[in-house]
Amino acid sequence: MEIIESIDRMRVWSERERRAGGRIALVPTMGFLHEGHLRLVRDARRRGDRLVVSIFVNPKQFSPAEDYAGYPRDLERDRKLLGREGVDALFCPAAAEMYPEGYQSYVEVTELSAPLCGRARPGHFRGVATVVTKLFNIVRPHVAVFGEKDFQQLQIVRRLVRDLNFDIEIVGHPTVRDEDGLALSSRNSYLDENERRAALCLHRALELAGVLVRRGERNGESLLAAVRSEIAREPRARLDYAELCDPETLQPVGEVNGAALLALAVWIGKARLIDNVILRRGER
Ligand code: PAF
Repeated sequence: MEIIESIDRMRVWSERERRAGGRIALVPTMGFLHEGHLRLVRDARRRGDRLVVSIFVNPKQFSPAEDYAGYPRDLERDRKLLGREGVDALFCPAAAEMYPEGYQSYVEVTELSAPLCGRARPGHFRGVATVVTKLFNIVRPHVAVFGEKDFQQLQIVRRLVRDLNFDIEIVGHPTVRDEDGLALSSRNSYLDENERRAALCLHRALELAGVLVRRGERNGESLLAAVRSEIAREPRARLDYAELCDPETLQPVGEVNGAALLALAVWIGKARLIDNVILRRGER
């Protein structure tokens, strides 16, 4: 696996692979890899001839109140994990090269960035859309894989690829969970044992909504009330939002008609955890 730190070297690498006719797959990450990332990597492996993983903790997607400096990092461990997955190149640029002095260009996917996590984290998706655009321009992948756990992010990336005419296939990979249902996330490392147990309320609440829909409940308010009270039963949990929305537009919907996204953000200790499920009318 080649470790590539500079943008120029990454460009040269990709240009060479493209000329040789290779299909390049990219998995963008912020590192501190867990099994969830590795599943994306394995999925991407099958979709291309050459596989690039990027590790870049993007300062532009952290607000001043969020802990950019404290975000978990372990490049050495990540390098070892990726080495075993048949990754061809690890792209890990420095922040000063990605955003040199005088940097002032941003990408904004306006409407999809406003609801859900966009409300609590203003500027976050502008940072994500900007860095993903930069990574696409530098790595020039044919296909890129993103996790469905960050559903809003995935839809924003899909939209920006359409709107800005990137010739890149975007693949959403299903959320990877621990055996007890907790969605894997680098932020789980902030949880102590009790908090980790408490964090299971997210999955429980989503499961409950699924059961209610299967029993015929379609009303959004009733479903959200059940979800909120499930979260409220957990004393360590503080609900940020529970919303039912259209999976494409992310606009709120009043009932489950066809497919609806049920998205949750919940604080457990100092970790803000997100999770979601697609509910479908008539699903058994
Ligand atoms: O999901 C992430 O890890 C990040 O938001 C991403 C897509 C790598 C952009 O920094």
